[in-house]
Amino acid sequence: MRCAVQDRPNWVPSNVDVERPNFARLYDYYLGGAHNFAVDRALAEQSNQLVPGTQLARNSRTFLRRAVRLCVDRGVTQFLDLGSGLPTAGNVHEVAQAADRDCRVVYVDNEPVTVAHGRAMLRGNDLVGIVLADLRDVRAVLAAQETRRLLDFDRPVAVLMSGVLHFVPDSDRPAEIVAAYLDAAAPDSLLALSHVTGDVLPDVAGRLVALAEHASTPLVTPRTREQIGRLFGGLELLDPGLTFTARWRCEQDLGWGRPPADGVEAPRVDGAAVDGAGVDGAAADGRAVGFGDAAVVVSYAGVGHKPAAPRVG
Ligand SMILES: C[S@@+](CC[C@H](N)C(=O)[O-])C[C@H]1O[C@@H](n2cnc3c(N)ncnc32)[C@H](O)[C@@H]1O
Repeated sequence: MRCAVQDRPNWVPSNVDVERPNFARLYDYYLGGAHNFAVDRALAEQSNQLVPGTQLARNSRTFLRRAVRLCVDRGVTQFLDLGSGLPTAGNVHEVAQAADRDCRVVYVDNEPVTVAHGRAMLRGNDLVGIVLADLRDVRAVLAAQETRRLLDFDRPVAVLMSGVLHFVPDSDRPAEIVAAYLDAAAPDSLLALSHVTGDVLPDVAGRLVALAEHASTPLVTPRTREQIGRLFGGLELLDPGLTFTARWRCEQDLGWGRPPADGVEAPRVDGAAVDGAGVDGAAADGRAVGFGDAAVVVSYAGVGHKPAAPRVG
């Protein structure tokens, strides 16, 4: 379907092709947002046959919202959201500024269409900026004009890496990238991270990898719970530790907080409960899980706290 020039909503920058599907707009559709077109919706429906994309995206975004609320509750009011996607559908600045209107947010994404859309959507909010950069280039992100204008690294910062580090292969040393951001941040800074795993349902994770290749988005690297835990380096994990993304503080209902299915057994790997926290998201052998339930067990999340440096002398 062609989008006539007079039908282009005003949030669409003039240089963006609205007839080619775009991953960020597809994600927006999954989230129930309004910043997508027929081509994006068609691809979303198609991909939903293969992976529980909608539920996965909503679980990821719900974790992000809960994590942002926790950060503000702990007095952290500056956010660096790496791999932000489109700032839509209850995103970081909306949740943060609803809790404290002085919150400042810098969104970072390496996808030019996402950033072009984002820039248009954020116009008029002086406490929010968006940077076109690759999160692997820590120096460029920290030196970007919007980062320097909005964030003060002498005070605690919340570094958000939700649903993005699985796009960074081992060869790019993701743990060192995380550490570099946290090194630049003051004590009491926080890291919120969610990440795809194949621990419980490797076939679903495999389909995600294949889909990403097909959609020519960067390669997806699912990681084990142990590998994801290592990405937190020396940070102290806040309660409830590293759990399935959908279960992280899931008692807090912030919209689409779909709790894991009741009455089904804890997922187990080699006979051991996966997150040790009485998980009830899927059947033991993985076969009995519904499509939506699969989205619960293909991602882990946690929030880490940077402790104060030990006093010298
Ligand atoms: C799955 S979306 C996650 C969106 C959002 N963080 C959330 O959790 O709802 C991943 C986003 O990361 C971006 N991304 C992937 N690799 C990146 C990189 N190396 N640097 C910056 N952004 C990246 C993609 O363009 C995409 O918008």
